[in-house]
Amino acid sequence: MQTAGPTSWLGRNDSNIAIADRYRLLIDAVRDYAIFMLEPGGRVASWNAGAQRIKGYSSDEIVGQHFSVFYPPDDIASGKPTYLLETAALNGHVEDEGWRVRKDGSRFWANVVITAVRDDQGSLVGFAKITRDLTERRRLEELERAHAASSLVQQARENEQKRVARELHDDLGQRIAALKIALSLHGSELENALPTQLHAELEAIAQIGAQIDELAEAVRRIAADLRPTMLDDLGLQAALKWLAEDFQSRYSVSVECRLKVSEPELGEFATTALFRVIQEALTNVARHAHAHRVTIELENDAEHCRLRVSDDGVGFDPRSAPRPDALGLIGMRERIVQLGGWLTVEGRPGAGVTISAELRLPVDIHPALACAGR
Ligand SMILES: Nc1ncnc2c1ncn2[C@@H]1O[C@H](COP(=O)(O)OP(=O)(O)OP(=O)(O)O)[C@@H](O)[C@H]1O
Ligand SMILES: [Mg+2]
Repeated sequence: MQTAGPTSWLGRNDSNIAIADRYRLLIDAVRDYAIFMLEPGGRVASWNAGAQRIKGYSSDEIVGQHFSVFYPPDDIASGKPTYLLETAALNGHVEDEGWRVRKDGSRFWANVVITAVRDDQGSLVGFAKITRDLTERRRLEELERAHAASSLVQQARENEQKRVARELHDDLGQRIAALKIALSLHGSELENALPTQLHAELEAIAQIGAQIDELAEAVRRIAADLRPTMLDDLGLQAALKWLAEDFQSRYSVSVECRLKVSEPELGEFATTALFRVIQEALTNVARHAHAHRVTIELENDAEHCRLRVSDDGVGFDPRSAPRPDALGLIGMRERIVQLGGWLTVEGRPGAGVTISAELRLPVDIHPALACAGR
């Protein structure tokens, strides 16, 4: 059986013309790559549909022009187009990635391969140039980098807070306690040794003692705000129960906890993030909801973690424009999104608010964070 060769495919007799036409058709059909020829001196010799799409010139406009028009002025000033052609002529080909300029002056990030084309005698007859528009890929890479950087900043802040909290608690806290003990000792010695008219001074000492107590309490509170030390001491499940009980007694809102937490599978990063999210959700209930009841549901296995905090308060419309200085809900979402999860806020005026979040475990941590967080 006779196979259909190039001649029959194009319905012509001259098979060389047929092959050349086939290549032209093929190259013209490519739309995602600019594929064109340059003369040895760098003038554009051919153009394809992909080149028109990516660079914006029609064939009539560009053929005959020097290919340096595709380069930004600083590249032209540094002689980059000539350098690339010389390197391709020397090594057979050259590859480059960088900004290029479209006809309308806009820039795109390009991957460019220039290949020297030689005839049978080895003489240079021109260059084949293939250009790909990588702007979108670069944008995504930059977004990824920014995401990783913001995770790093968040974690660095968390680590710094941890350090300051430790210092406050271990150093300043201890010193204040020692001061209080010393003052009390001197106070009781004075009481025994001095005549009764100096009782006013003793009263002053007692007042200073009370102020030191307040100072110590303030330091403890600041330290606890900076870093939930409870998490280290008690673990997430017990820390949440404590948080719920404290909230219940402070605000007379009943809190139901449905917790099935397996902490080793959550890891330190998710544990801290979840604690902070729940803490902020409860603070919002206390400040805005006028609720009677809050339910905290948290469960995880080795692969998933699900959180819901719902209240029966006055609710609000989460689509309404937030106050510019309101950071609580934004911070909650950032914490969860940085760990690769999602967080939603559902609510309606008069129908309470539900915060839902989900994480896939183990959480995806930037390698630099994995060391920094320990
Ligand atoms: N549980 C809730 N019930 C009713 N309204 C809520 C609730 N949670 C949030 N809101 C509304 O959403 C707004 C934004 O909450 P968000 O936590 O972002 O900011 P904030 O609590 O006002 O301030 P902060 O930055 O100190 O947290 C609140 O001002 C409030 O109007
Ligand atoms: Mg808030």
